[in-house]
Amino acid sequence: MTLDPAQPSLIAVKGLSKQFDLSPPWWARLLTGAQRRVLKAVDDVTFDIPRGKTLGLVGESGCGKSTVARCVTNLMVPTSGRVDFNFGGAVEPSTALSPEGRRKVQMIFQDPYSSLNPRWPISKTIAEPLKVFGLKTSRAEIRDEVRLLLETVGLHADDAHKYPHQFSGGQRQRICIARALACRSEFLVLDEPTSALDVSVQAQILNVMLELQARLHLTFLFISHDLSVIFQMSDYVGVMYLGRLVEIGPTAEVFRRPRHPYTQLLLQTVPRTNLVGQIRAPLSGEVPSPIKPPGGCSFHPRCPHVMDVCRSVAPKQTQSGAELVACHLAAG
Ligand SMILES: Nc1ncnc2c1ncn2[C@@H]1O[C@H](COP(=O)(O)OP(=O)(O)OP(=O)(O)O)[C@@H](O)[C@H]1O
Ligand SMILES: [Mg+2]
Repeated sequence: MTLDPAQPSLIAVKGLSKQFDLSPPWWARLLTGAQRRVLKAVDDVTFDIPRGKTLGLVGESGCGKSTVARCVTNLMVPTSGRVDFNFGGAVEPSTALSPEGRRKVQMIFQDPYSSLNPRWPISKTIAEPLKVFGLKTSRAEIRDEVRLLLETVGLHADDAHKYPHQFSGGQRQRICIARALACRSEFLVLDEPTSALDVSVQAQILNVMLELQARLHLTFLFISHDLSVIFQMSDYVGVMYLGRLVEIGPTAEVFRRPRHPYTQLLLQTVPRTNLVGQIRAPLSGEVPSPIKPPGGCSFHPRCPHVMDVCRSVAPKQTQSGAELVACHLAAG
């Protein structure tokens, strides 16, 4: 199922899996009899994102969101599965992206300070992709473009000569966005881009991104553990649990009527103004180890609706309304 059959997908991810081999070396296994230890960080994840739209990925810490982001942006090689981009011409697999394609896929990280070179004035940071990709050549053109990009993200053009330590966290994240825009990117992966910022600055950055998306028709994969941010930013939402995508569909639909018991529990943890003063039930139970996930449906030890079949058979994704849900209950 594609999320919007009427819209072409900019990115299609099929059966993406990433395993980390944490086994001791073979000689140590031989001497001690230790077993192989393989961690399934991402397990058979499939989704697509229509051009100009945002897919939000949510799930508890360690469920594999950043690993999906790294595989999608080629920072990590998946164990299996594929990622295809369609920028309007031929479909390009992520493993063989043209230089043009590589330029169009950019990532914004949680900590803007560590993703900026502290020894470079920000004019150099933003000018670099313009030079590397040959988008602007003369010094005057580059200087003008840097000033324009700074203004686009709400900074002063005269700030260009300053260094990263002379900016606040929110301003640094704006610089990272300006650098991504300098690449004329079309697809941005935003991995917790505002988690390190205070709430008012967070709102400003989210608004900048929404405004840029509408103006430049950008496509986003937006990762956050904050469901209210996901609700604000995303057209579609994917819910991950222990490396698997358990539910995916239009955000309004998923928030109005979550079908997977994990999504239902996750949504109960969102603060609501009409529940002020009431105690909200925390999501109970520990997340099991991804090295030894429970058999059957990996959510079954925490599921309030667990049935016998859940303990032995992993549920397949089935369509339920406009959504895909991996749950025996949804399968009926
Ligand atoms: N390079 C690595 N080597 C070994 N294990 C890894 C590596 N990167 C991630 N993992 C493991 O893979 C699993 C998924 O990690 P990932 O960073 O994708 O989670 P996440 O959903 O982004 O979590 P968070 O919300 O805390 O950022 C975790 O169990 C993590 O320990
Ligand atoms: Mg992460």
